[in-house]
Amino acid sequence: MPEYPRQIHLGVFVLGTGNHIAGWRYPGAAQSFEDLSVVQEIARIAERGKFDLIFLGDNLASEPGMHPSFAARFEPLTMLAALAATTTHVGLGATASTTYAEPYNVARMFASLDHLSGGRAAWNAVTSSGGKAAENFGRIHPEHDARYEVAEEFVDVVRGLWDCWDDGAVVRNHATGQYIDPAKVRPLNHEGRFFKVKGPLPTSRTPQGQPIILQAGSSEPGLNLAARTADVVFAVVQDLEEAKQGYVALKSRMPRFGREPWEIAVLPGVMPVVGRTEAEARATLNTLQSFVNPANARAMLSSRMGMDVAGLPLDELVPKDFPLPDTSHGFAKAMLAKAWRERMTWRDMLNLAGAARGHWVICGTPVQIADTLQEWFEAHACDGFNILPPYFPGGFDDFVDLVVPILQERGLYRADYTGTTLREHLGLERPRSRLFHD
Ligand SMILES: Cc1cc2nc3c(=O)[nH]c(=O)nc-3n(C[C@H](O)[C@H](O)[C@H](O)COP(=O)(O)O)c2cc1C
Repeated sequence: MPEYPRQIHLGVFVLGTGNHIAGWRYPGAAQSFEDLSVVQEIARIAERGKFDLIFLGDNLASEPGMHPSFAARFEPLTMLAALAATTTHVGLGATASTTYAEPYNVARMFASLDHLSGGRAAWNAVTSSGGKAAENFGRIHPEHDARYEVAEEFVDVVRGLWDCWDDGAVVRNHATGQYIDPAKVRPLNHEGRFFKVKGPLPTSRTPQGQPIILQAGSSEPGLNLAARTADVVFAVVQDLEEAKQGYVALKSRMPRFGREPWEIAVLPGVMPVVGRTEAEARATLNTLQSFVNPANARAMLSSRMGMDVAGLPLDELVPKDFPLPDTSHGFAKAMLAKAWRERMTWRDMLNLAGAARGHWVICGTPVQIADTLQEWFEAHACDGFNILPPYFPGGFDDFVDLVVPILQERGLYRADYTGTTLREHLGLERPRSRLFHD
């Protein structure tokens, strides 16, 4: 069980050019997601703010129309390996696709990162919502629910491979010359509907036992996969009541899989636009919005809605019968519900997609932002937040230097790290190998 009172967990969504589509155009903002020094600075700020984790997404395709950081970026595991060397505490999370990767490779990469970082690795298991990746792998993009069927088995294979080594398998006995205790390493011998994987990995049991599993789907099959296997879930939210319902929808299905609700930390994405005054914050957001390239906003909204929105009547209300796309249910559900609630037009939707890509935006003074985060946390709408600074490094500095201290003073958030692994930050136990101990 976690120690009470509950504490807020914080992650940061890293996109070098900022989470706002036009963040890079803000005065003083970082210009590139292909610049190690930019990402290293973001990681330094995250550790100054005692963040649980930094998170790097990935799409397996260059998407220059949507967002500059989706056009040109490093392969995320490679970047995290570099960051492992310059950070000491913050968790290092990255996306790998269950539709386009192989479980053996994914298990090996994250096991390696867990060793390299001393127990800070986290895998964001995504099914790849957009079909663009298919063109790079000579494949046909499977439909939504079929992707999740593969994902269920994929995650089991990865976790099984992480369990092939028991603790204490590397004995290094100088007297006998024995390096490995063969009784503590087993093959997985997995033969399933989609994968056939013998194992073991050439990587011993990792510092966390199992690297942390992140997930971000909120469709029915997405919630089921998360309830069974995730440690952290990124939610898409736009409204407190809806967030509370989504939180219950996920946590209430965990007992079906023999898990306790506290074993998942739900972190909704939020873009905080911080100002010394409310007017200053509003002016910053207005400046950022004025920089949005309309073509980028259209491409982003098309991706979120799963169809080309170019021909839609900009000044008409978003219709009530607009269908959920086959791409990602999470974004579309939250954005459409907001549009219907607030009687938004398609032009308003373009503004929403252009700001935080469909995520929630809060704009205000440090106290106003801290109050809102506290309200959501105490209302059990979430267990913390995935912070999406609009631009780096200034937009992240503002949150860490102005909002985090208020959360700390209120006893809602750690004043310092009490452990060194991501599992410890999350209050999760280090699991024993199920292959050896179940
Ligand atoms: C915070 C956040 C980060 C995500 N990162 C990625 C990513 O890096 N790559 C990706 O293909 N999908 C990413 N997604 C999409 C989801 O993981 C998921 O595949 C998609 O939303 C479809 O799931 P659903 O229909 O169950 O909601 C992300 C979603 C959220 C909310």
